[in-house]
Amino acid sequence: MIITYGSSTERLARRTAEIGNLRVVEINRRLFPDGEQYLRLLGDVEGEDVAVFQSLGLNPDRSFMEYALLVDALKGAGCRSVTGVVPYLAYARQDRRFNKGEPLSAKIIAKLIESAGTDRIITIDMHLHRFRDINEVFDIPATNLTAMNLLAEYYANSHDACNSVVVGPDGESEQWAKIVADKLSARCHVLEKERLGDREVQISDTASIQGARAVLVDDMISTGKTMIEVIIRLKAQGVRHVDALVTHSLMVDDAYPKLRGAGLSELISTDTVEGPQSLVSVAPVLAKALKH
Ligand code: R5P
Repeated sequence: MIITYGSSTERLARRTAEIGNLRVVEINRRLFPDGEQYLRLLGDVEGEDVAVFQSLGLNPDRSFMEYALLVDALKGAGCRSVTGVVPYLAYARQDRRFNKGEPLSAKIIAKLIESAGTDRIITIDMHLHRFRDINEVFDIPATNLTAMNLLAEYYANSHDACNSVVVGPDGESEQWAKIVADKLSARCHVLEKERLGDREVQISDTASIQGARAVLVDDMISTGKTMIEVIIRLKAQGVRHVDALVTHSLMVDDAYPKLRGAGLSELISTDTVEGPQSLVSVAPVLAKALKH
């Protein structure tokens, strides 16, 4: 197995290559004057199985195009197979036509990844809700890994997690909150969320959550609004310390200062989308998955 990468996920690709002792093929890339992307492989991949790392965070459309160009370049250069390693898979939250006239985006991104020439896909904590299994979304072999065990282990080893209560902000988060609660031997509360707009959510009553210390768990933070609403409510009822564990930290605009302003003590996320809060690397789980 050889590794190559799109520009959104270089560090994670290199970390995974180091752990798995895998060769990295470098890419020459630039933009044409009109903004189109150009790239060229700088190594021989003929007859090889290649893993292409590219998260679709923050600038998903551009990142996807780069991914598709990479896969085509690899296939054109005669590689044997392409495994797409897309640690953060964008468009997965639109997993239903909520209103008449909307696309089913989760299926469309899967079709595009497949039609680019991908033979197998690996992702991490994909937003699976109305589709319960990644194999309902993709027609190629697909693996959805989780970072929640790594996040919980990191938290248990670096914080006083005793008597913490784990809180999931909505029904979707139950799957991830339960893993963390099990690892921390903590109680788990899952709230209900109603989304009123892109940056507006309403959270159900948090009164039943008792304890001095809460750990919020979710797959991702985008605008931060979901977490902020929960933090404000928890603080108002006397929870003194609130930390958060999330896999994908997109942090749109000033999400992080707003979270801190609401009273969040610490945010711990992974390097699926690299940022200042990426304290846990998912490279070990990816290196292991690529061996199989
Ligand atoms: C949606 O259900 C997801 O699990 C997250 O809760 C959501 O995407 C977070 O978005 P935001 O940070 O913009 O509230």
